[in-house]
Amino acid sequence: MGFCRPIMRRAKSGRSGSDVTARVAALAALGAILFASFACARAYAAGSPAAIHPDLWPQIRPQLPADPALERQVNALLAGMTLEQKVGQLIQGDISTLTPADLRQYPLGSVLNGGNSKPGGNTLAPPSAWLGLANQFYLASMSSSHGSRPIPEFWGIDAVHGNNDVYGATVFPQNIGLGAAHDPALMRLIGAATAEEVRAIGLDWTFGPTLAVVSDDRWGRSYESYSQSPALVREYARAMVLGLQGEPGTRHFLDAYHVIATPKHYVGDGGTRGVDQGDNTESETYLRDFDAAGYPVAIEAGAQSIMVSFSSWQGIKMAANPGLLTAVLVDRWHFEGFTVGDWNAHGQVPGCTDASCPEAVDAGLDMFMAPTDWKRLYANTLAQVRSGQIPRSRLDDAVRRILRVKLRDRLFAEGPPASRPLAGHFDLLGSPQHRAIARRAVRESLVLLKNDEHLLPLKPRERVLVAGDGADSIPMQCGGWTLTWQGSGTSNEDFPHGESIWRGIEQTVRAAGGEAELSADGAFKHKPDVAIVVYGESPYAEFQGDVPNLAFNPGNDSDLELLRRLRAAGIPVVSVFLSGRPLWVNPQLNASNAFVAAWLPGSEGEGVADVLFRKPDGAIGYDFRGRLSFAWPRSPLQFGTDTPGQPLFAVGYGLRDASNGNLPKLPEASGLPSAALVDANVFFASGRPGSGWHWAVADDAGASPVARGIGASDSGRLTLTAVDKVRQEDSRRLRWSGTGPSTAEISGATPIDLTRQTNAQMALSFDYRVEQAPSAAVTLGMGCGASCGGAVPIAPALRAATLGQWQHLDVPLACFAAAGQSMRRVWTPFALQTAGRLTLAITNIRLESGTAGNFHCSH
Ligand code: BGC
Ligand code: BGC
Repeated sequence: MGFCRPIMRRAKSGRSGSDVTARVAALAALGAILFASFACARAYAAGSPAAIHPDLWPQIRPQLPADPALERQVNALLAGMTLEQKVGQLIQGDISTLTPADLRQYPLGSVLNGGNSKPGGNTLAPPSAWLGLANQFYLASMSSSHGSRPIPEFWGIDAVHGNNDVYGATVFPQNIGLGAAHDPALMRLIGAATAEEVRAIGLDWTFGPTLAVVSDDRWGRSYESYSQSPALVREYARAMVLGLQGEPGTRHFLDAYHVIATPKHYVGDGGTRGVDQGDNTESETYLRDFDAAGYPVAIEAGAQSIMVSFSSWQGIKMAANPGLLTAVLVDRWHFEGFTVGDWNAHGQVPGCTDASCPEAVDAGLDMFMAPTDWKRLYANTLAQVRSGQIPRSRLDDAVRRILRVKLRDRLFAEGPPASRPLAGHFDLLGSPQHRAIARRAVRESLVLLKNDEHLLPLKPRERVLVAGDGADSIPMQCGGWTLTWQGSGTSNEDFPHGESIWRGIEQTVRAAGGEAELSADGAFKHKPDVAIVVYGESPYAEFQGDVPNLAFNPGNDSDLELLRRLRAAGIPVVSVFLSGRPLWVNPQLNASNAFVAAWLPGSEGEGVADVLFRKPDGAIGYDFRGRLSFAWPRSPLQFGTDTPGQPLFAVGYGLRDASNGNLPKLPEASGLPSAALVDANVFFASGRPGSGWHWAVADDAGASPVARGIGASDSGRLTLTAVDKVRQEDSRRLRWSGTGPSTAEISGATPIDLTRQTNAQMALSFDYRVEQAPSAAVTLGMGCGASCGGAVPIAPALRAATLGQWQHLDVPLACFAAAGQSMRRVWTPFALQTAGRLTLAITNIRLESGTAGNFHCSH
C-alpha cells in the first residue's frame, strides 16, 4: 500500500483530505484530466500530464538532527498566537510599499526588498540606511500591539552575487562565471563572505542560490545558473548553502555571521524553452534528474527556505502544484523549512489574483511574496481562514515552519538588527579580504576559447590599447541584479570599491613599465603592440533578457567593425567578451587572435589583467583555468541542451595557455531571418512602427489605419506628419484641430500579453515635444478590444512641459491596469485622445524598465 502514503502523511502534516478535494477541484478547473479515486491515489493528478509520482523521487534524510526542545518552543509560540498573527506570518511585503509603521498595524512576518526597492527609494542608500530601516522594521514587529507574544520579522534580500543590492558591497561574478571556475571550495568562501556583508547591514536572509539547470540559453536568467550540467549544480548547491548558512550541527549554523539561504526557483525554471516564467514540459523523471538536481543536496546541507518558481510544469503553475510542493518536497524530502513564493507569482495561478490565492496555501506555499498587494492579501487570507476555506491545520503547518526557521536563526535571541555582532561593521562591505576572493573568482572563471600563436599571456611591458564599450564599465561587468534590478542606470562612480577591467590592465602594464591607453572607439595616437577589446551584452534581468536566438547584438556590428579595423591595421587583437550566456560570435572569433569568455565578472575587474598578462619577469602569473559550464553554440539557433547537434565548444572546454589555441576560420553566415532582429519592446522608433504594429486614427467619422503613420482621420480633425528628432523623419507630429474627439493609436493584428511586464513595474514610455499646449483634457490609454481599455489623464503632464522642448514620459503599466485595461490582451498599447486642440511631436514609444517613474496615477 506504499502508494497511499503521501496522502495519509499529508493529513498528518496538516494538509487534510478535504484540502485534497479542493485541490482536485482547482486542477479540474484548469482542465486537467483527473483520476477517479484519490483516497488511495498512486500519484498526484494521476493520468494528467502533470502527474507526480512521489515514489519515483529520491528519499533523503532529514537535514538536521531531531530537536524536541525546538519543537516544543515552536508549539508554545504557536499556541499563544492570535489568528491575525498567524496569517501575518504567511505574508511578505516589499519595503517600497510597506513601512515600519505598517508593521505596527499589520503583524506581517517578513519583508523583502525587490531589485529596485531601496531604503528611502535611494539606489545608492548607504549601508547605515539599510541597517536603520532593518532595525525599525524589527522593533515595529515587536511592538506589543500584536497579541501576548510578538513574533520578530525578518528581511529577505537578493544577495545573489554578493550583497549586490547595496552600495559599496563586493560584487562577485555572476553564477555562470562561477560555474566555469569548477571550484566548490571557492563557492563556500563566496557564500560566507556574502553572508557577512548581508549581516553587516542587519539582514539575515538571502534569496539564493539559484539552482536552475538551463536547457535553453535564450532564457534571460541563464547567467543566474551555475551550469547546464546537473552534477555541477549539485556540488555548488551544497557548497553555497554551507557557505551562507554555516555547517549544520555546529555552533556556526545560522549564527550571527551567517544568513538563511533560499535555493530557487523550485522547480523547473531553467527548462522553459528560453521563456522566462514559462512552461516546462519535460517528463517527471527529467524534471527530477535535471531541473531538480540541486534541491535534495541543498536540503541535506540544511537549506531553510526554498523559493517557488514563477514557471509552470506541464501547464500547472508551480505555486499551485501540491505534488511538487508537498508530496515531493515535504513528504519525500522531509523539508522542514518553509517555501516562499516569487514576486506576486501566486497572482498568476488561474482563479487567483495578487490579493487572494488560497489555492497556493493549499498546495503547500508557506509564505506569499506579496510586494504590492500585501494589505488586501492579508485581509483576504484572514477571511479565508475564518471561513474554513483555508484549513486551520494547514495554516498552523505553514506558521510552524516559519517559526522553526526563525528560532533556528536565533531571531528572538539576537534581538534588534543593530545589536547583532556584525551589524554596523560596514567595512565588511567591499573589504580587502572579500575583494580578494572575488578577484580570485574572476581569474578562475575566464575561459580561453581561442589563442592563435600563443598570443596570450601578453607581455606587460608593451604598448597596449584597451578598447570597446565594456573596457571601463563596471555596470557592464556586473550585469543585472547589481544596485538596480536590471543593472542599468548606474556608472563606475556608483562602485566605490570596484575596478573596471581597464583599470586592472592599466595598473599591470604601468607597473611593468609598459604603456596602456584607453580608447573606447579604438582610435590611437601611437600604433599599439596589441589591442584588448572588451565588449558584450548590456545588463538585463529576468524576462527582459529573453532573446529569440543566440546571435550577439543582431543588427549592430559596431564591435565587429572595431575588431576588424584594428586587425586591418596589423594589430593583434584580444577579445574579452562580457556576456550572461554563450552566444554565437563566429565573426568575432574570426576577427580576434585570442578570445576570452569573461562572463559577468563583477566589481573586481583586475582579475582579468591577472590572467591576460605575464609577470614583469616573463613568468606566468596565473594560468587560464576556467572551463565552460555551458556549451558554446555552433549556430544562433543552437539554443542549448534542448537543441541537437555538436556545439562549437562542449561543456568542459577551455584552453590552458600552454595548449595550442589555433582555431580554423569559422563559417560566418548566421542563417537568421531578418525578423529575428526586432526588439519586442518597441512600438514606434526611428520612424517605423515595431514589428506587428501600425498607426491608426479614429474619430466619430470612423477608424482607419495610417500607412507609415502619415495621414489624417476621416473627419480631418487629426493629422499625422513626419518630423525629425535625431534623424530625418524619425518622429511623428500629431495635430488635433479641436473640433471633436479623435484618437491617434498604435495597434496590432494580434494582442500581446503584458502581465509579466506590469508585475515588473515596467512603463509605457515615449519622447515628446509639446508644440501647442492642450486646450482640453487628454488621455493616454491602452485597448483590449471593443469597449475594453483603460486610460489615464495626461493633460497636466503635457501642460507642465516646456513648449518646444523634447521630454520623456514614463507611465507605469499598472496605471492602465488600474483604469480597466486587461493586460493579458493588449491590442492597442498606445492611444492618445483629446477633443481639444493639441500639437505634439512623438517618438520612441516603447516599454521601459527601471524607470524612476516621473508619472503618478492614483490607484
Ligand atoms: C523588482 C524585482 C522583481 C521584479 C519582478 C521588479 O520590479 O524590483 O525584484 O524581481 O520586479 O518581475
Ligand atoms: C525573482 C526572484 C527574486 C524576487 C525578489 C523575482 O522577480 O524571480 O529571483 O528573488 O523577485 O526580488
